[in-house]
Amino acid sequence: MKKAIIIGATSGIGRALSIILSKNGYTVCAAGRRTDLLKSLQSELLPGSLVRAMDISDIKNAVNTFNKICTDLKGADLIVISAGTGHLNPDLEWLKEKETIDVNVSGFSAIAGAAYRHFAEQGYGHLVGISSLAGIRGGGGAPAYNASKSFIFNYLQGLRHKSAKMNLPIYITDIRPGFVDTAMAQGEGLFWVQSPEKAARQIFLAIQKRKKVAYITKRWTLIAWILRMLPDVIYHKL
Ligand SMILES: NC(=O)c1ccc[n+]([C@@H]2O[C@H](COP(=O)([O-])OP(=O)(O)OC[C@H]3O[C@@H](n4cnc5c(N)ncnc54)[C@H](OP(=O)(O)O)[C@@H]3O)[C@@H](O)[C@H]2O)c1
Repeated sequence: MKKAIIIGATSGIGRALSIILSKNGYTVCAAGRRTDLLKSLQSELLPGSLVRAMDISDIKNAVNTFNKICTDLKGADLIVISAGTGHLNPDLEWLKEKETIDVNVSGFSAIAGAAYRHFAEQGYGHLVGISSLAGIRGGGGAPAYNASKSFIFNYLQGLRHKSAKMNLPIYITDIRPGFVDTAMAQGEGLFWVQSPEKAARQIFLAIQKRKKVAYITKRWTLIAWILRMLPDVIYHKL
């Protein structure tokens, strides 16, 4: 039976993906900070699935907890980092920017690094990070959020480069959602908002296909292309 660890499984995309993985026979360990939500999720997962409290911005404890999960599960085939945060921050308040960096940059890379080390030791594995379409270009509404997601693009590419050089069967997938109907979808003028369940179904397909990069839902591939191509003079008017 395959084993998966999902960090950021208490709500939204991570929760929906945990349920799909469980329905497809995975033993899941679901992690996040809100223990009440973890307990209610556990009742929807296959027997033998685990839940663990973890705050990825508390790096030392988070990495210890992560390593202990790997031991408790006796190895993991799939590790998904869905945990993330972000704030609309028109006044550039430092504490909001800092929280985003602590979770999406420091926390993300600490857990991604621990996951990679686990896979390198065991000789195989699949790491999935949930970044965002927002990583494609800087954004004035939430500068730290866009920058943090861009960091994730690059960090995951670095791990892919590392596994290729080491010739190890360690697969790295960067999931880039557009708008998904969760607490993270903030602001005006949202469009093509999809349910977390639909997003999770498409993420599961991308995992099965071992995709390097997947836009969720697929139609966001077009917006990603447009965002990359738009000259600044037009982008700055959006
Ligand atoms: N929704 C969208 O439109 C959208 C678009 C693009 C990308 N994304 C990305 O998708 C990922 C999942 O977000 P979502 O949309 O599913 O929103 P969500 O429902 O708010 O889920 C965020 C998850 O991250 C966890 N989390 C946040 N801070 C954490 C921390 N310090 N330690 C551990 N876990 C933490 C939360 O759990 P606890 O609070 O219980 O810890 C929760 O499970 C995020 O990385 C987000 O940036 C979302």
